[in-house]
Amino acid sequence: MGRIIAVANQKGGVGKTTTAINLSASLAAAEIPVLLVDCDPQSNSTSGLGFAKDPDRVSTYHVLMGLASAREAMLRVDPDGLFVIPAHKNLIGANIELVSQERREFRLREGLETVRPEFEFIILDCPPALDLLTLNALVAADSVLIPMQPEYFALEGVSELMDTMERVRQSFNPDLTVEGVVLTMYDERTNLAQQVAGELKKFFGDRLLRTSIPRNVRLAEAPSHGKPVLMYDVHSRGAECYIRLAKEIMSRLPSRQRPTRAEQMMTESQPEPETEALGTTD
Ligand SMILES: Nc1ncnc2c1ncn2[C@@H]1O[C@H](COP(=O)(O)OP(=O)(O)OP(=O)(O)O)[C@@H](O)[C@H]1O
Ligand SMILES: [Mg+2]
Repeated sequence: MGRIIAVANQKGGVGKTTTAINLSASLAAAEIPVLLVDCDPQSNSTSGLGFAKDPDRVSTYHVLMGLASAREAMLRVDPDGLFVIPAHKNLIGANIELVSQERREFRLREGLETVRPEFEFIILDCPPALDLLTLNALVAADSVLIPMQPEYFALEGVSELMDTMERVRQSFNPDLTVEGVVLTMYDERTNLAQQVAGELKKFFGDRLLRTSIPRNVRLAEAPSHGKPVLMYDVHSRGAECYIRLAKEIMSRLPSRQRPTRAEQMMTESQPEPETEALGTTD
């Protein structure tokens, strides 16, 4: 079963999409099957992976509204093993249209159920709002990855996200956890960044990830070429840090939850037991 991680922070421009794209690509490059779901009407993950705006393309809107399956919406992208469910600005409509519908908070969770066994990770790129789209992502997710810029008011914003997560736990998804907090556009040379990082460490403890993402021009350029940074400039600091982030996230999972595809293939290629007693496989 794929682990579903929502990349969320209602503050705008903190690096959610950059993290969603590049974490997904780094995991896929390590032969781990990943699905990235663009849950934001701004559709930056979609365009950042090279897809032009197209209102007729099957997208997250159709999955949420029950008009198409996740499989019908999935598109294959580079690197191998990475798939994306694209978004279009029509997704704004889902926020309004869903309000009157039954089980409106569960649409994404239910929509992803059929494809979940095929992926080790499903990454959800959330919009900068605590709206019904983000709520659907938090209900679908096992955990939340919170990108934060080391600024003085960063913590104030995140307490609202923590409150929302608590409400989601109480009403819809009791097992929702914090995957981690990742510092983005981090400049370790400034006192301010170091000070704020220290405060965040006190507040979040182990949940503050060791890997932080520096400001790196290649990360900002890559989306205009429609590529994850790893396919644009693999030797850049940005690519290196997102590969490190992917490794750190993998290393924090209990080992039984993270067989790599290579490990799975080795297990699958072991000779079948010859007795019929072990019978039922699916
Ligand atoms: N580490 C980085 N180095 C340099 N530029 C970055 C970095 N991370 C993000 N950016 C740039 O900062 C801007 C905001 O990043 P991004 O779109 O990932 O944030 P976001 O949280 O998804 O924004 P929104 O809330 O609007 O969805 C983009 O132009 C992006 O290219
Ligand atoms: Mg974004």
